[in-house]
Amino acid sequence: MANENKLQNIIGHCKEYGFIFQSSEIYDGLSAVYDYGQNGTELKRNIRDYWWKSMTQMQENNIVGIDAAIFMHPTVWKASGHVDNFSDPMIDNKDSQKRYRVDHLIEAFVETLDKEKGDAMLAQMDQLLAANDYVGLKQLIEDNKMKCTVSGTCNWTDVRQFNLMFSTQLGSVSDEASEIYLRPETAQGIFVNFLNVQKSGRMKIPFGIAQTGKAFRNEIVARGFIFRMREFEQMEMQFFVRPGTQKEWYEYWKETRMKWHMSLGISPEKYRFHDHVKLAFYADMACDIEYDFPMGFKEVEGIHSRTDYDLKQHQQFSGKKLTYFDTDINQHYVPYVIETSIGLDRTVMLLLSEAYYEEDLSTAEKQDSRVVLKFPPMLAPIKLAVLPLTKKDGLPELAKDLINECKPHFRCFYEEKDAIGKRYRRMDALGTPFCITIDHQTKEDGTVTIRYRDSMEQERINLADVKNIILDKIKMF
Ligand code: GAP
Repeated sequence: MANENKLQNIIGHCKEYGFIFQSSEIYDGLSAVYDYGQNGTELKRNIRDYWWKSMTQMQENNIVGIDAAIFMHPTVWKASGHVDNFSDPMIDNKDSQKRYRVDHLIEAFVETLDKEKGDAMLAQMDQLLAANDYVGLKQLIEDNKMKCTVSGTCNWTDVRQFNLMFSTQLGSVSDEASEIYLRPETAQGIFVNFLNVQKSGRMKIPFGIAQTGKAFRNEIVARGFIFRMREFEQMEMQFFVRPGTQKEWYEYWKETRMKWHMSLGISPEKYRFHDHVKLAFYADMACDIEYDFPMGFKEVEGIHSRTDYDLKQHQQFSGKKLTYFDTDINQHYVPYVIETSIGLDRTVMLLLSEAYYEEDLSTAEKQDSRVVLKFPPMLAPIKLAVLPLTKKDGLPELAKDLINECKPHFRCFYEEKDAIGKRYRRMDALGTPFCITIDHQTKEDGTVTIRYRDSMEQERINLADVKNIILDKIKMF
């Protein structure tokens, strides 16, 4: 399947099966904002839970979680550098008035080139970005006659910076002093609570603080479905270390996070690291974990060695000391930080891209096909469908008894309508890994048929064993 088609088919499938809808769709939608439907919400919640448990409860290192507010004191964003620096180089087309992020415009153009030319152009772009050479970037765009997708012309403004934070007013009086921002990353909620957590939890360095939550960015070019949204969710962890040990912890987290991705059962060829040439102002080492999405390799997670930049800035702007006393070396210092930051929505998109298959099941006798979502069973929105073969003879009662036994442990689904084959197909489309069919033999010998989503194989098992078999197959650790 061509990749562009695959993305379009995934978007259509997500709408049809209650995974993801355009926000405010009945009003023609809001650009780059999406709502999760009944199945998307379960999928997202399962991913969040898996990340949370992996990063807190399962860690050998001491990592605890918090839930900071989205609204923060406006000075937080002055201190963090977001007010002055959280901007991207933009360029406007004078004919259409459409604004583009310069790197996105160039990347879209690179996709039309062969690999060698494309790689050379990306390397040139990276160099120009690293040097903040806006004249050079404009030259690159003009020399290669890159066109606006709306006007089709190359009539460009100069390259300028554009801040990505959303602002709003706190309280009823609208003046400059009441202006606050919707957080563009969750990380700052962790930094400003560093001492609260360290003292109240008597945490010893090295330790980490994890958080999941919404972040907001006024992305100029928002595209690729839920890949780049204006309201999205992050799963971040700040790991506080002794200055001088950041390199070894950076390598540790690179490896640990890649292992987490592998634990989703995805082939290593679908991932790669991309080391940053242009480092953010707060970082001394940084890389992305990229996944091969239908539109090519793109960032899904960032790992950043943020030095002591954030804590020192908050110390300076708040006037409060944010140091730690290390009893092992009898020294006070401001800790260094390694950050792992992954987009939850991007991980949903990764799993959808990985799981979506259109399979041709035709035989000599008849044409047949199915769309199936092969999610890792532990992350599937519905774990088990229980299907009585007929609506009578006591089979629905047996099915409901099984659901009552299983539902405190995992999400189940009951369906008695339509032919069994049709019901299996609907469960395939939702990514349900296991179906149990209750038939007349169940009444005689207490056995049921279990049907596996990926192989479509079926076998007889004891009804009494179903709960434990499924629990074993969906366990996270
Ligand atoms: N605290 C560091 C930080 O925010 P980032 O690389 O800007 O770093 C981290 O963002 C992750 O958040 C990205 O790897 C991506 O998965 C996700 N993300 C960033 N912007 C996004 C957007 N507009 N839509 C969806 N996910 C986004």
